[in-house]
Amino acid sequence: MIHKFGVRSVGLGHPYMDKFVIRGGNPLLGTVRISGAKNAALPAMAAALLTEEPVILENVPQVRDIETERKLLAAMGAEVELGYGRAQHRTTICCRNLVNPEASYELVKTMRASTLVLGALVARMKHARVSLPGGCAIGARPIDLHLKGLERLGARIWQEHGYIEARAERLKGARVVFEKITVTGTEDLMMAATLAEGETILENCAREPEVGDLATLLNKMGAKIEGAGTHTIRVQGVEKLHGARHRIIPDRIEAGTFIVAAALTGGDLLVSGCDPRHLGALLQKLEECGVRVQTNGDSVRVTGDGPLRAADMVTEEYPGFPTDMQAQFMALATQAEGVSIVTENIFENRFMHAQELVRMGANIRIEGARAVVRGQTPLSGAAVQASDLRASASLVLAALVAEGETIIDRVYHIDRGYERIEEKLRGVGAQIRRIGEFLPKRVATPVAAG
Ligand code: EPZ
Repeated sequence: MIHKFGVRSVGLGHPYMDKFVIRGGNPLLGTVRISGAKNAALPAMAAALLTEEPVILENVPQVRDIETERKLLAAMGAEVELGYGRAQHRTTICCRNLVNPEASYELVKTMRASTLVLGALVARMKHARVSLPGGCAIGARPIDLHLKGLERLGARIWQEHGYIEARAERLKGARVVFEKITVTGTEDLMMAATLAEGETILENCAREPEVGDLATLLNKMGAKIEGAGTHTIRVQGVEKLHGARHRIIPDRIEAGTFIVAAALTGGDLLVSGCDPRHLGALLQKLEECGVRVQTNGDSVRVTGDGPLRAADMVTEEYPGFPTDMQAQFMALATQAEGVSIVTENIFENRFMHAQELVRMGANIRIEGARAVVRGQTPLSGAAVQASDLRASASLVLAALVAEGETIIDRVYHIDRGYERIEEKLRGVGAQIRRIGEFLPKRVATPVAAG
C-alpha cells in the first residue's frame, strides 16, 4: 500500500523518551541482514531535485534521517511516496512542482546532511536557501568547502539570518580542488556540476562507496560523470536530467557494527546482504585483533572464538579505517588484551563514548586526538547516555558484553542511522528491549503536490 505525504495525521511516538535495556553475556549467533546505506540514500534523495521526473529508490533504510529528508523535500513541494508493507524500503520522489528552494533550520538542525540539497537546488532552481547546520556533538563540521566549490562554479553566495543564500542563473563548469577531503562536499558539487554549462573537474575528492553510488544514480538519470571513487571526478554538464530507478548499496557501517558485535560477544554470526569490498580496512584490523572473518559474495562470517588482541587504529578517509567505526572499535579494544591506541583524524571531538565506556569499567585515557585503551577490563552494566549516532552504537556493543543490565538513554540517536537495531540484535540472541512511552502524537505533515 502506498501512502502519499499529505495533510494527514501520522502516529509518531516520542522518540526522546526511548531507552534500551540490555543484559550482557550472550554470544551473537545466526544471521543478520544488513539494510541499505543511510549515507548513500540521503544524497540519492537529494539528487531527485535535479529532475522533474520521478526517481525511484529501492533498499532505502527505514531510519529517522530518511524521514527527516522526506519532510525536507516535501516542504519544498516534492511529492514523496512512502512504501508500506512489501514496498517499505522503496521511496519515490517527484520534484516536478518545486515551489520553495529552502531547507529550514527546524529540519537542518536535526540533520546536517540536509546541506546535500544545496548544490542540486542551485542547479535546478537557480536559488537555494539552506540553514547553516550549526555544530554537532562530534565537531564544528563547517560547510565552507561546499560553498567555495559552488562559488567556483559561478554561484553568488551570502549568509543572512543563519541561512546560506546561493544564486546562479546557470552554473558554469570549472576546476575545483577540495582543500580537505569531504564526503558530502564531493557529493554536493558532483550534483551541482551535472547541470552546469561545460566541464567540471573535481580534485581531491572523497572516494567513499556512497560517492560512487550517487554517481551511478546520476548517470542513470542522464548525467555524464567519470572517475567517481577516485580522487578526480570529471562531469560534463547537460541541459536536463530524467528520472531513474536505483537500488541503494548496503550500509557498510551497519555491517561493521554487527561484525564487531559478533567479535566482541564471542559469537558466530553471518552478516548477510553487505558488500565485503567496502569493509577491507575494518576486516584487516579485526584479523589483526585475532578475529576470524570469512567473506563470500554478499556476506561476512565472523567467528569470535579466540582471545582478542590489542591493536592500534587510525581513522582515515576511505579506503582507510572509517571514522564511523572508531567508537565501535574502541568498545572492542576494551576487551582486547594489551594497549590499543585509537587515533581519530577526521573529527575533532569524536570520543564522547569514551567516558561512558569508562563508567562501565573500561580503562581509557584521552590524549588529544588519541585514546589509549588498556584491555582487557571487565565491563559492568550501568545507566549511560547516548550522545551521537556512532557513540550510541558503541555503548550498545559494550552493553552486550557487560555483566548485568545497561540502560541506554536517548536512543533516538541510534534510530537516526540503524534500522530496528534491537529487533535485529534480538534475532541473533542478544537480550535487548526498547522501553519508552509511545504517546501517539497527531502530526499534520506538509501538503505535498498532487
Ligand atoms: C560524511 O559526513 C558522513 N555523513 C559522516 O557520517 C562521516 O562521518 C563523514 O562523512 C566522514 O566519513 C554523510 O555522508 C551524510 P566530511 P560529512 O565533509 O560529509 C571537514 C554518520 O555517522 N570539513 O567528509 O559531513 C569536517 O569538519 C555520519 O553517518 C570542512 O572543514 O563529513 C571534517 O573534519 C557522521 N569543511 C572533515 O572535513 C567542509 O566544508 C571530513 O568531513 C566540509 C568538511
